[in-house]
Amino acid sequence: MLAAMKSKSTNSQFGWDDFDTEAYYGQYRSGILWDDCCLARMTIGALLELGVPLRSQVIGVDACNGGVIRGPSMLAPFMRDDGVLYWSDYGKPQLDHAKKIIASGKKGNLGDWAVHQTHMGECHPAWSGAALRACQLGKVTQQSIFELPENAYDIAITCFGPESLTGDRAEWKRAVTRFFRSVKPGHAVVMLYMGKSTGYSSAGGSFPAVPISQDDVLSIANKQLEKIQAFYIPSTDHGIRPEGEQFSYDGMGGIVGLKRTT
Ligand SMILES: C[S@@+](CC[C@H](N)C(=O)[O-])C[C@H]1O[C@@H](n2cnc3c(N)ncnc32)[C@H](O)[C@@H]1O
Repeated sequence: MLAAMKSKSTNSQFGWDDFDTEAYYGQYRSGILWDDCCLARMTIGALLELGVPLRSQVIGVDACNGGVIRGPSMLAPFMRDDGVLYWSDYGKPQLDHAKKIIASGKKGNLGDWAVHQTHMGECHPAWSGAALRACQLGKVTQQSIFELPENAYDIAITCFGPESLTGDRAEWKRAVTRFFRSVKPGHAVVMLYMGKSTGYSSAGGSFPAVPISQDDVLSIANKQLEKIQAFYIPSTDHGIRPEGEQFSYDGMGGIVGLKRTT
């Protein structure tokens, strides 16, 4: 297995259409994880601190969405009632899963994600209906992070995307740079990431990662963002990877800022 991993490292060498969304979701079924709670609270606080008015943004994106409601929910309170929130990914099963979640959310059913909405609402009242709003305004789109349009979005998030779609550091840098560039100058950007991840598995399939640190993230972010807030949750005693799992990671981080205007 490790030999096979070593022979593959770039994004296009992995079968993103073979990604098992049901298995990937398994980690969220048992309830809300400590890391998710911390990241949600820190992201909400950081976004509020930037002073972006609620219900003011027209076009938002969650890049590398994975069919997961977390990213769109963080942004939803900032979107206008007539805004569009793109759930963007490259792999077909992930897009199909996103469509299912949106359809169900539009009927008021959040399934496993209801606990996340409850938690976000406890962080700040504006997030009490955030996941339902993410579905109401949600639109699924097939898009590679490497082809995101430049200066296109009023607000953008990616959760465990760039470092978890390649094992190649130069490609990771290109993905992050492209993601930041897709946001309009002066507008808000969020990136959540796995720290020093060595890869991950989904229903027997192995997927790549670049083992990045907060310094690696800041070295790119400092050039493209301002008013940066950075946070990190070490995995010390509450890791999401069970004992004996072949892949490891060091913690989960987040960076929030405004795209530089100069
Ligand atoms: C670890 S998952 C992240 C899922 C989700 N955002 C979350 O919060 O858990 C990585 C995702 O990146 C997507 N991906 C892989 N290559 C991509 C590319 N070139 N452009 C956009 N998304 C890509 C995969 O399909 C997968 O859904």
